Amino acid sequence: MNTFFDGFAGTGCVAHHFKKFSKKIIANDILFSNYVILKTFLNSTSRNVNTEKLELYIEKFNKAKPIKGYAYKNYGNTYFVEYNAGKIDYIRENIEKYQDYP
Ligand SMILES: C[S@@+](CC[C@H](N)C(=O)[O-])C[C@H]1O[C@@H](n2cnc3c(N)ncnc32)[C@H](O)[C@@H]1O
Repeated sequence: MNTFFDGFAGTGCVAHHFKKFSKKIIANDILFSNYVILKTFLNSTSRNVNTEKLELYIEKFNKAKPIKGYAYKNYGNTYFVEYNAGKIDYIRENIEKYQDYP
């Protein structure tokens, strides 16, 4: 396949699946958050991502203690169980502090 077009790409799982079958991927979504995710997810390769650094972040955030923030209050026990919503809050509120981690 030459080009795969996903006009409602969301977080990009479908477009990502077709990466291996297509020379070119065009992914579109109206949400800015999805635009950021798509740009990162679909353009990532082992050449432009520091996977060792990424693993350190994952290890650190997996140990994060949940806090009762925006996601907990608005999405706890709806889209996410309260525990996971609290972890999202911790990560969201702390991720900028770790820009230069380690
Ligand atoms: C069901 S989701 C797509 C899920 C996607 N296949 C995935 O793997 O995450 C539909 C998407 O269409 C997007 N959307 C809705 N209206 C749109 C529009 N007019 N133009 C572009 N994207 C739109 C939404 O933001 C949403 O992410």
